[in-house]
Amino acid sequence: MMSDNIRVLIVDDLPETRENVRKLLQFEQDVEVVNQAGTGEQAIEMAQTDQPDIILMDINMPGIDGIGASQRISELVPRAQIIIMSVQSDSDYLRRAMMAGARDFLTKPFGGDELVAAIRRVYDKRPTITAAPPRGQGTGAPVAVAPEAAAGNIVAVFSPKGGSGCSTIAINLGVSLAQSGFNTALVDGSLQFGDVAVMLNMKPMTSVLDLSDNANDLDNELISSVVQKHQSSLNVLLAPPRPEMAEVVTEDSMKGMLDSLRQIYDFILVDTSSSLNGITLGILDTADRIVLVAQQNLPSLKNVSRFFDLSESLEYDSEKVSLVVNRASDKRGISVKDISNTLKRPVIMAIPDDDSAVNTAIDQGVPLLTGSNKRRPVSVAINKLADQLVQDLVGEKDMKSKPAEESQPGGFFSRLFGKR
Ligand SMILES: Nc1ncnc2c1ncn2[C@@H]1O[C@H](COP(=O)(O)OP(=O)(O)OP(=O)(O)O)[C@@H](O)[C@H]1O
Ligand SMILES: [Mg+2]
Repeated sequence: MMSDNIRVLIVDDLPETRENVRKLLQFEQDVEVVNQAGTGEQAIEMAQTDQPDIILMDINMPGIDGIGASQRISELVPRAQIIIMSVQSDSDYLRRAMMAGARDFLTKPFGGDELVAAIRRVYDKRPTITAAPPRGQGTGAPVAVAPEAAAGNIVAVFSPKGGSGCSTIAINLGVSLAQSGFNTALVDGSLQFGDVAVMLNMKPMTSVLDLSDNANDLDNELISSVVQKHQSSLNVLLAPPRPEMAEVVTEDSMKGMLDSLRQIYDFILVDTSSSLNGITLGILDTADRIVLVAQQNLPSLKNVSRFFDLSESLEYDSEKVSLVVNRASDKRGISVKDISNTLKRPVIMAIPDDDSAVNTAIDQGVPLLTGSNKRRPVSVAINKLADQLVQDLVGEKDMKSKPAEESQPGGFFSRLFGKR
């Protein structure tokens, strides 16, 4: 029987790096470095012979690189969980590494605490291998992995100020993630006056309404029949065709619907209305991440600041809210830095102002990232934001134990003012 130790394989082409990593781990009682590989080929071999729990994988190596090796190892040795070690600027690599099956990332240089924390985190949430029926030893056949707990990530794009760019950002984040191969859905959570249909040039033949009746008990078949596929391979759930129809949808049915979508999609982007009604609040509660959109002007700053206060009253983790500045430009009186300083929050992305590209996209119903403007700085920034979300959210799942949903009899206002 294997020991209870966490068995680690270190993969890096530089012997000094391998040695450094080994040293960082040498005093951990329950962590055992079982082997070291200097190439991707060696890593693939050792993964099979040593059956490590965790593989610390460098990306840049001659021959088969870390991504190629990860891909091969995820197929051959699914029990081995891969943590990529990389320099910060490789966001495109990281994204590909994730697609190749990596579970987490460490940015070089890293310290012992960080390394050990990542190892334990990934180890603790490794998928359990189903007790497969006995089969011939050494066939190299992949072991069946139990389907992972449903864990799609819900990302709400919200601004307390209308017209800030939420729809543009939500749509293009969705397109970016879909283009990276994630199974991605976009929900128009601006139920009364949602713009997603127009901006994607789609007809609301089906909508959120079709799912709101049995929102807590949706099966995949029903969801797939209602969700419409956009050319970008984004799966879209539109707002109802007429504003008054939105009333049927309740906060609870919206929450239930989103939770059901988690079972199917890797990412669920939700465009929201700026009015903080029950629906919006239900979306924000359910979301794993809120992309909060600000602009460089005082009214926006004021409202965003109030929203941060609110998010504290609602007891959201501070990491739950990611501040983004849209229409960023050096020419404005308030700089992006001012915003960050005033709000005492990092601005995780400044999305440049680009009237012509953004408006062409909207007018033609073709998202920025699929059209001829996909290399413009505004598009690049949204792609980067998508990368950032992937890095932050994928892998972090199952870590947080969300408190059970309390029932909130008094509606959302009492929640706002009742707490704290
Ligand atoms: N990065 C940008 N550069 C230039 N213009 C932009 C940018 N982002 C958004 N806009 C403009 O701002 C307007 C509002 O954008 P969008 O509809 O995406 O915002 P919204 O927050 O969803 O608005 P609403 O509150 O109406 O739902 C659009 O006309 C668009 O042209
Ligand atoms: Mg909008």
